[in-house]
Amino acid sequence: MYFDEVDKGMAGGTGHIGGAVLDGIYGYPGWTSLTVLVRGDAKAQRLQARYPKISVLVGDIDNVEIVEAAAKDADIVINCCPDISHEEGISAILRGLASREVKGFYFHTSGAALIWDEPDGSKAGTKVWDDIEDIGVITSLPEDKSHRKTDKLVFVASEDVNVAIISPTMVCGLSQSIEHPFPLTLPSILKVIRSLNSGFTVSAGENRLSYIHVQDLASLYFTLACHALRYIAYEVGSTNDDPKEIVSYCGPKAYYFAEFGDTSFGSYMADMVRELNFLGVLENIEVKRIDLRDAEQASGAMEDDAPDSWAKHIAASYGIDMRVKASRAKKLGWDPRVKNLQHDLGEVLKKYSESEKGV
Ligand SMILES: NC(=O)c1ccc[n+]([C@@H]2O[C@H](COP(=O)([O-])OP(=O)(O)OC[C@H]3O[C@@H](n4cnc5c(N)ncnc54)[C@H](OP(=O)(O)O)[C@@H]3O)[C@@H](O)[C@H]2O)c1
Repeated sequence: MYFDEVDKGMAGGTGHIGGAVLDGIYGYPGWTSLTVLVRGDAKAQRLQARYPKISVLVGDIDNVEIVEAAAKDADIVINCCPDISHEEGISAILRGLASREVKGFYFHTSGAALIWDEPDGSKAGTKVWDDIEDIGVITSLPEDKSHRKTDKLVFVASEDVNVAIISPTMVCGLSQSIEHPFPLTLPSILKVIRSLNSGFTVSAGENRLSYIHVQDLASLYFTLACHALRYIAYEVGSTNDDPKEIVSYCGPKAYYFAEFGDTSFGSYMADMVRELNFLGVLENIEVKRIDLRDAEQASGAMEDDAPDSWAKHIAASYGIDMRVKASRAKKLGWDPRVKNLQHDLGEVLKKYSESEKGV
């Protein structure tokens, strides 16, 4: 059996994360039979121009009939779309995969906002969440915690589908995505910097957040997906290697944080304003202390916006602690290559400011 005979599906392949995942798997032996869900014909054409061997399916993740039928045809689905408020689409993928003869694989994108504390900013939180040691708590947090509702949906399906949840921390770095090469959070943080004409921290900015470079994050999806390919080859009898241990990488506890370490928001902001000043985007390297309400206002949040609205969510992220350990991925042999935030921060900011000017 050639891996090309294994059908794969992907959603969110134009995204910052998904674009890096797609670029990593494209062309690798075993990944040619790949269908990507894309929103709109123009985007689909641009994607196929870059990756001619993919098939595209034009639609939205919440077009449940289309999505379920596509998942039914796929042995492996990688979903890099936003999970929040897309329960219907995610359920449709899981239903499609569950109806297969050979148990399908589903790799789901969640987020470490699940374990955020209160946005205070005054001190470094001491709790470091470990995705092996703390898995009991991680899988029993209440549904009002960010991402928990969809995490639960995915794990409940684990009897019928081999599932794994990838939970990125703050994603940094340049992606090969044709539509979203820059980190999702970058325009929002620059919006606050511009509105204050300076850098900022919530309170003292001592709060610490874990980060992951988008290329290393993509390699975690790739690692999991390659294991799935090996397992499928065994199930259909085309290899004698018995990779039974592989299914233990999936299941109701297969929750994978992705991180290279944590840093204080204040230190990240100091690096950011230095680079922006160097590029001539910011006249100074001042860092102002603000409070959460100021951050919300500068992010464009209205007082009565829901706490999970993007503006409130992103403003909260500036003051929270999000310290995690990617122990489960390390057990798979995954190790991030980029281990500092400065790695391509200057390049990201330079290219982003050029893109704003239409260069
Ligand atoms: N970036 C982070 O720091 C971070 C951290 C933790 C968790 N996450 C999770 O990862 C997700 C993806 O992050 P990202 O940085 O890659 O975001 P992104 O660059 O905005 O990419 C989102 C991708 O999902 C697609 N998409 C969005 N809504 C869709 C829908 N209704 N139907 C079909 N496709 C849809 C987008 O397509 P278009 O090209 O058409 O827009 C794009 O391909 C986030 O939404 C979040 O849930 C991200």
